[in-house]
Amino acid sequence: MNKEKQGVLSLTESDSKGESRTLTASPAFIADRALDDSVYARATRDRLGYWEEQAAQLHWFKKWDRVLDWNPPWVRWFDGGKLNASYNCLDRHLEGERSTKPAVIFEAENGDSRTLTYEQLHGEVCKAANLLKSLGVTKGDRVVIFMPMIVETVISMLACARIGAVHCVVFGGFSAEALRERIEDVEAKLVMTTDDGQRRGKIINMKGIAEEALSAGCESVERVIVVRRQPDKEPLGETSNQGRDVDYHEAMKEMSTNCPAEVMDAEDMLFVLYTSGTTGKPKGVVHTTGGYMTGVATTHKGVFDLKENDIYWCTADVGWITGHSYIVYGPLANGATVLLYEGAPDYPAKDRYWEIIAKHKVSILYTAPTAIRTFKKWGLSYLEKHDLSSLRVLGTVGEPINPEVWLWYYKFVGGERCPICDTWWQTETGMIMLSPLAGLSEMKPGSCSAPIPGVKVSVLSRSGEVMEWGHNGYLTVSEPWPAMMRTIYGNDNRYVKSYWSHWPGIYFTGDGARRDKDGFFWIIGRVDDVINVSGHRFSAMEVENALLEHPAVAEAACVGKTHEVKGQALVIFVTLRDKNAPKDEVISDLRQFLVGRIGAFARPDEVYVTNDLPKTRSGKIIRRLLKDIAEGRAMGDTTTMESSHVLKELYKG
Ligand code: WT7
Repeated sequence: MNKEKQGVLSLTESDSKGESRTLTASPAFIADRALDDSVYARATRDRLGYWEEQAAQLHWFKKWDRVLDWNPPWVRWFDGGKLNASYNCLDRHLEGERSTKPAVIFEAENGDSRTLTYEQLHGEVCKAANLLKSLGVTKGDRVVIFMPMIVETVISMLACARIGAVHCVVFGGFSAEALRERIEDVEAKLVMTTDDGQRRGKIINMKGIAEEALSAGCESVERVIVVRRQPDKEPLGETSNQGRDVDYHEAMKEMSTNCPAEVMDAEDMLFVLYTSGTTGKPKGVVHTTGGYMTGVATTHKGVFDLKENDIYWCTADVGWITGHSYIVYGPLANGATVLLYEGAPDYPAKDRYWEIIAKHKVSILYTAPTAIRTFKKWGLSYLEKHDLSSLRVLGTVGEPINPEVWLWYYKFVGGERCPICDTWWQTETGMIMLSPLAGLSEMKPGSCSAPIPGVKVSVLSRSGEVMEWGHNGYLTVSEPWPAMMRTIYGNDNRYVKSYWSHWPGIYFTGDGARRDKDGFFWIIGRVDDVINVSGHRFSAMEVENALLEHPAVAEAACVGKTHEVKGQALVIFVTLRDKNAPKDEVISDLRQFLVGRIGAFARPDEVYVTNDLPKTRSGKIIRRLLKDIAEGRAMGDTTTMESSHVLKELYKG
């Protein structure tokens, strides 16, 4: 591997793809790093032994009998082991100095902040757990949490985990209809929501959305807990559903701070989180306890080189997997101080992130390429106003990051001092799978580097051969890993079909990738009908099914188009029932319709009304051709886009 001068990016004579630019961390960073190179060799020599060592860092009520039971695709990690996720995130930090260490620093959009120490967080979680119990929630029951980025959301998740209830957090940006679908699929017994959420100074009526969802079905729901966003204001009024609704803050006053953690099996379900697949119906990804906790704690510490005094900020929403794994379970299991920010990056001004970093002396920042591209566009003046010297490590996740955006992040946010961890993973993988380990691995701008210790991935051809370096193929995981999803809630068959039916015993990620001659991985993007808009996952069919519910629409197709800031944007093609309908009106109506059906983040960038859609002989819409049109390419000319080759291959015949 081509070693370059430390701390300085050298632009050597590169191959055609610029893949030989490498960078290493500064000697000072390396000298201070907790792990050394031997971790890779350790994990390769004895992969399962390595994971056992990692698991042993958690607190187990009873040690496991067997590290791995692998009967593809069915897996059991740490079978026979007993533990509790909430105990691992809270109770074991209560002895010694960590008990008074800030666990969560909450920063509201209006600049108010509130800090909870581990001791305080533990007390709140116990009270909330007792509240859930008092409302009849027991082990195995599902609780839907539809809440914004506030401390009570973290408390609620941990309270569920404490009593063995399965939480299902639904991102606060979803519509009533999307919420209803998820509540019904997971058969929730209880729903937690807030009276309002705040975004860019505006109040979002979350209780109203929840109410709309509940009134449209959701028969399994017995009780609703309403958290008041402003607890010092009036308790829930007469207007609320008296027998069903519970005022969180009022009820918490009565609850004890003593609630022993339920003893859970390693393979007991911890949570269900919905994500989009290739069909219209979202998939309830199931994660269990022992392997998940091992995976997220290990990677959070190892990838970001977590130190006791770090102030760690992950900007993701707690309603997505990044929030679950790297705001809640990983960091708190490691006893870290986590910053939780409720608001938008541009409110009240475009320097909000940099202001927060300076205010709280954030040392690890984990964010998304779409945000970094936006900051780059806004310009340097916003950064220059603030002292960012507390930053030590940077992370990115959710989409491929363009090399020039990576360099901008490195230079201007990290001051050429902070290693960048481009972390590739998925809702399904539960934990980071490919990434540099900060300061340990070399970095190439735009590449997520290589698998972390203990993870084995390969880039395969359709027939299952390992692709030579430089050639595109399918990104797969060849050995089970602890935080892997266990199934799709209530749908084992779909689980097997979606992920395990391509190559025996090998997990298919849905992404295309290539390896370069130095062993670095380059992610091309999805090769299925999943569209990634600003790190939000959409299924083309999910959007199309929603459009077909609109009375004006006869046929619909949805594709992703390359977008400078969002990575991809949604482009819609429809044919109308009434060919003479006023097109402009229909188009604006459809945009609004999608917002109502899925959520504001599903507003399409472009809507085309057409007389016909390209179809196969069997009547299937050929999205690939529509994508060419959306991208402004000549129809059928796929040579300009790498992923098209993969696509073409995948669907051939
Ligand atoms: C899809 C998973 C994992 C948390 C956020 C998204 C894409 C994710 C990267 C990266 C290139 C990436 C993939 C993947 N993706 N991280 N570092 N480089 N692409 O989770 O919603 O489950 O989406 O996001 O296409 O399959 P998700």
